Amino acid sequence: MKRVAILISGGGSNMVALAESMAGDHPARPVLVLSNVPGAGGLAKAEGMGIPTALVDHRPFGKDRAAFEAALQAELDRAAPDILCLAGFMRVLTEGFVTGWAGRMLNIHPSLLPKYRGLDTHARAIAAGDTQAGCSVHEVTAELDGGPILGQARVPVLPGDTPETLAARVLTMEHRLYPAVLHRFAMGDRRPVMLP
Ligand code: GRF
Repeated sequence: MKRVAILISGGGSNMVALAESMAGDHPARPVLVLSNVPGAGGLAKAEGMGIPTALVDHRPFGKDRAAFEAALQAELDRAAPDILCLAGFMRVLTEGFVTGWAGRMLNIHPSLLPKYRGLDTHARAIAAGDTQAGCSVHEVTAELDGGPILGQARVPVLPGDTPETLAARVLTMEHRLYPAVLHRFAMGDRRPVMLP
């Protein structure tokens, strides 16, 4: 049984999808939900699901990323996870931290990587006139949004779409894709999952 820690910064809808998917006959279990933002909506949701939570507020550390990550690692050591899932975790992690979790850390990104790394992915897809958009789950490496892709899900970009309406359509697919990839990954299977 793989132990999974989920790192969040916001509402945690992907965290809920992952945690719910790990019920019953599944090769993994959630052992921690950790946020860098005090009061992040996902913390209360995790508590409501009976999952241990932790807060490592990045603000007191200012620009000292090494100190922030040392505090983060200390919380993770307490939970001893095998796999880290970044789910709307909005801190960029240093190469040193990422290397320590090489091959054991996943992230979900709301675009069809390698297109649109970084932020504002939906606005950029609409501005470019793309007819398709989507989301990707990838292994985390030191290259931001650049690690091996383990899954992708596609949605149409519809006439009149705004970044908000497109984001909502993509988020629905995120909640299907991330659990599907995690299930395979926890079994040691790195074959990409392609949806729909
Ligand atoms: C998701 O769209 C994810 O792809 C992005 O941040 C958003 C987080 O949403 N990185 P939630 O907190 O999981 O609801």
